[in-house]
Amino acid sequence: MRALARHTPISIRTEHFEPLTFIFRQQTRYCAQVDHFHSGRLAYKFPNRVPRAVIQNARVLKEDWVPQELQHRDGQLQHLSGELKPIAHGLGAKSIIITGPSGTGKTTIAKYIVRQLEQEVFGIRWGYVNCISETSMSSIIYSLVGDAGRANDLRKEGTPTAVLLDRLREMDEHFIGIVDEVDVLSDEQTIQALWEIPNVTLVLVCVNEDDFFADLDSRVASRLRGAAKISLEKYHHDELCDILWGRIHAGIASGVVEEETVDYIADVAAGDARHAITLLRRAVRDAVESGDETLTGDHVRKVREDAREEIHDRNVDTLGTHQRHLYEIIKDAGEISAKDLHARYEGRVADPRAKSTRRKYLQSLEHYKLIESAGSTRARRYRFREP
Ligand SMILES: Nc1ncnc2c1ncn2[C@@H]1O[C@H](COP(=O)(O)OP(=O)(O)O)[C@@H](O)[C@H]1O
Ligand SMILES: [Mg+2]
Repeated sequence: MRALARHTPISIRTEHFEPLTFIFRQQTRYCAQVDHFHSGRLAYKFPNRVPRAVIQNARVLKEDWVPQELQHRDGQLQHLSGELKPIAHGLGAKSIIITGPSGTGKTTIAKYIVRQLEQEVFGIRWGYVNCISETSMSSIIYSLVGDAGRANDLRKEGTPTAVLLDRLREMDEHFIGIVDEVDVLSDEQTIQALWEIPNVTLVLVCVNEDDFFADLDSRVASRLRGAAKISLEKYHHDELCDILWGRIHAGIASGVVEEETVDYIADVAAGDARHAITLLRRAVRDAVESGDETLTGDHVRKVREDAREEIHDRNVDTLGTHQRHLYEIIKDAGEISAKDLHARYEGRVADPRAKSTRRKYLQSLEHYKLIESAGSTRARRYRFREP
């Protein structure tokens, strides 16, 4: 009853319950509480001070939310759409390789441009696969064929790769396959087989082009060297601020986020949009939980560690079985020599991957900052990296 005493009840006669609530929310940003609703008579109680709705659209704080416009990537988007243009005229297009460090927008841009093309051009299909999660040739191709809507009658396990490839080949439409984290791929046959299908265009995404090419057979490499290349740099401080403001304007009440807070987030994230967005989301959550109406540097400072852990855990979640085994052995050991690591891995899995494949997996664990290594090939040691 004490809480009720602080309220100022007002009554409004209305037939329309929802719109009225909506108007109150919009105009006062205070949540009016419905006291009772009886024969068209509504009583709203306004508490003296109820935190306003800080978050107006929680979706925009999620990593997978794609803004209407991608910021500061106009040149790259134009380049990409120019490279894919021949598809609009019924022709094949060059493959594309997108490179850049983590959080530079590689995956987002690849999907964005292909979706745009899909809206403009009739008769194209596209698929997306991430080689961190799908590591075998058949599972990668199955995933793409599935996105093309041609795998409904096929089982993931046991369908011959040739059958899957035929499904793509026999399509009337042009197919664009986005193959993400392709530098982790252990056999180049996958890329070669897809590459050879006339109505397939590949968009390959990787962190480091040199690592990717270094492990390719020279024949495949020489073909791929003709691909169009787009390399994304880490975002500058101001660019990251703009990306953050884009989300803030779309999803957070105005006046909640201070300019210095955005500056601070951009400083901490150091060019990585994923890191920046994760920090923003965690900090906003912290502010809401604490009942605060402005987001300050203190909220960000408080969640810095949690945000790093969240990114670390999300990266671990995407690992395929064999990468996970390697990661866990290193994590359990803290630090381990390459020799011991291989021995433990072989003792642990029934179908160990070739050493060259394992080295790729370890490389990708390093890219994701899950582990670090030191020393030359023979004397190499791997260390778990704290988030
Ligand atoms: N130019 C941009 N404008 C708006 N949001 C972006 C931009 N670039 C990246 N992002 C966002 O940052 C996050 C990380 O981007 P992502 O494409 O996954 O990076 P990468 O694949 O290079 O690691 C995603 O949530 C994405 O929506
Ligand atoms: Mg990515």
